[in-house]
Amino acid sequence: MIAENLEKLFSLENKVVLMTGAAGGIGRELAKGMAGIGAIMCACDISEKGLKSLDEEIKAEGGECHTFVMNVTDQASIQAAVDAIGEKFGRIDVLVNVAGINKREGIMDVLEETYDRIMDINLKSVFMVSRAVAPLMMKQHKGSIINIGSHNATAMLGGCSVYGATKSGVVALTRSMAVEWAEWGIRANAVSPGHILTPLTQVTWDHPTRGDYLRDRIAMRRPGTPEEILGIVVLLASDASSYMSGSNYVVDGGCLCGGAPWDFDSAYRYKGEE
Ligand SMILES: NC(=O)c1ccc[n+]([C@@H]2O[C@H](COP(=O)([O-])OP(=O)(O)OC[C@H]3O[C@@H](n4cnc5c(N)ncnc54)[C@H](O)[C@@H]3O)[C@@H](O)[C@H]2O)c1
Repeated sequence: MIAENLEKLFSLENKVVLMTGAAGGIGRELAKGMAGIGAIMCACDISEKGLKSLDEEIKAEGGECHTFVMNVTDQASIQAAVDAIGEKFGRIDVLVNVAGINKREGIMDVLEETYDRIMDINLKSVFMVSRAVAPLMMKQHKGSIINIGSHNATAMLGGCSVYGATKSGVVALTRSMAVEWAEWGIRANAVSPGHILTPLTQVTWDHPTRGDYLRDRIAMRRPGTPEEILGIVVLLASDASSYMSGSNYVVDGGCLCGGAPWDFDSAYRYKGEE
């Protein structure tokens, strides 16, 4: 009975999910996790090689996966993938905009072309892909859009100016989608991960000073894993979140709340023993 009730509440069975950036560190785990509970995963990424291995991983676990090479900065490429998915399934129930990049540089060091590239991939793409998918969702009178933001939408690190601006933009854009498209039955929410350990961020966690800097700013004193973003994404994709729209959900192990405490006096500091 419990399993049945849970399934009824959170099931993604037969939901057609279009995910950008699906072959990356976070996207890969989200794609596998969603396919693992019944989603028809339409995985989109610019990396053909990454898509191939994702496809194999999902199918090895018994899930359904279809791959589409998509460059989120190219309108024709976006439309081709959306049209192909529309033709194949007749619907897109969930859009997860995951694709994103960063290049850490001080404000004065950022070249205009770097600025444009980060803006295009992180922010303009969310605008373009969502606009390409929205007409199908409008026709269905139902859809859930999940945009991956970042805690950098709110709290900043040095050298992330353009990245942070794009993520603030993603959260703002999410609100506009929620406001304008509610009458079409479309919900839009942002999910903002904190510091997540992926193959690309491993080097930062291993760095002699930066790893400690980050741990000090997280109440749980550790990076999150891509799998730890899955729960909120499943909730927002499923009908369990039918009244949730226009918000930004932070998953950061206690980072924005203040991070690890300073060295205050208390008899109740855990010392590691039983
Ligand atoms: N890793 C973190 O700590 C962290 C924290 C907060 C937010 N995020 C956000 O999560 C998302 C995923 O991050 P990640 O750590 O998995 O990064 P990642 O680099 O592992 O994955 C990004 C994916 O996007 C794809 N991509 C890049 N440019 C593309 C393009 N033009 N068209 C289509 N696909 C393209 C890449 O091929 C890659 O598969 C990003 O939006 C990132 O900003 C990550």
